[in-house]
Amino acid sequence: MQTITSIAELREVLGAERRAGKRIGLVPTMGNLHEGHIQLVHQCNDNSDITVSSIFVNPLQFGENEDLDAYPRTLQADQQKLEAADCDYLFAPNIEEIYPNGQVIQTQVEVPGISDIHCGATRPGHFRGVATVVCKLFGIVQPDVAIFGEKDFQQLMVIRRMTEDLFLPVEIQGSPIARADNGLALSSRNGYLSETELAVAPALNSTIRETVSRIEAGERDYAALEEAAQAALEESGFQRDYYRICRRHDLQSPSTEDTELVLIAAAYLGKARLIDNMVIDI
Ligand code: PAF
Repeated sequence: MQTITSIAELREVLGAERRAGKRIGLVPTMGNLHEGHIQLVHQCNDNSDITVSSIFVNPLQFGENEDLDAYPRTLQADQQKLEAADCDYLFAPNIEEIYPNGQVIQTQVEVPGISDIHCGATRPGHFRGVATVVCKLFGIVQPDVAIFGEKDFQQLMVIRRMTEDLFLPVEIQGSPIARADNGLALSSRNGYLSETELAVAPALNSTIRETVSRIEAGERDYAALEEAAQAALEESGFQRDYYRICRRHDLQSPSTEDTELVLIAAAYLGKARLIDNMVIDI
């Protein structure tokens, strides 16, 4: 695996691969890689000839009081994991490479409608930062396919919508949530959890599964189900963010006629903000 930090050099090597007829896949990440990211790399290997991973902790998607400075940077360990997963190129630019004119004087990509609800309501501007950097990465790498984790369900929707609206010639693939044996969705932010919090954290997923089985058993008072789950999570030691049963296609509140749903949730545990979701077919 070759690690490249400059856009010019990456374009040169990928240009040669493209001229040789190779299909290029991209796995964008912010590093601190875990099994979930490696699953994305494997999926990319299966769907392309050349896998490019990027590691860039994107300041534009972090709010002022968020964990940008604390976000774990583990480049060497990440390089070893990517190498072992048969990744071909790692693109690891610095901030100036991606934001040469600073972050303010900068074209930004806004995906209205789904960017300001749920995670977007808690983290204003977050999805604008995500859409902007992913659009830049698509412009730099020009991938045929790009793979994103389904844990960030809303992020994946934002990226699909952006790609469709801007006619970007990239196939977007989701990859199922990778979980620990106890159900906890793998996340770089799990690293913020203490031993005690790590024992509590799987309750987010077990609560979601409990709500989903109640819906599957016929319960339709979604507001009551949401409230009961939030209360149960608080009882376990979480602090509320949101816990919503939504229509899958637009993440709005469902009527009892809607059959394709998703339960999306975020909750704070100590210093960590954890997210998880589960699709529901009625
Ligand atoms: O999901 C992430 O790690 C990030 O939001 C992404 C897609 C790499 C953009 O910075």
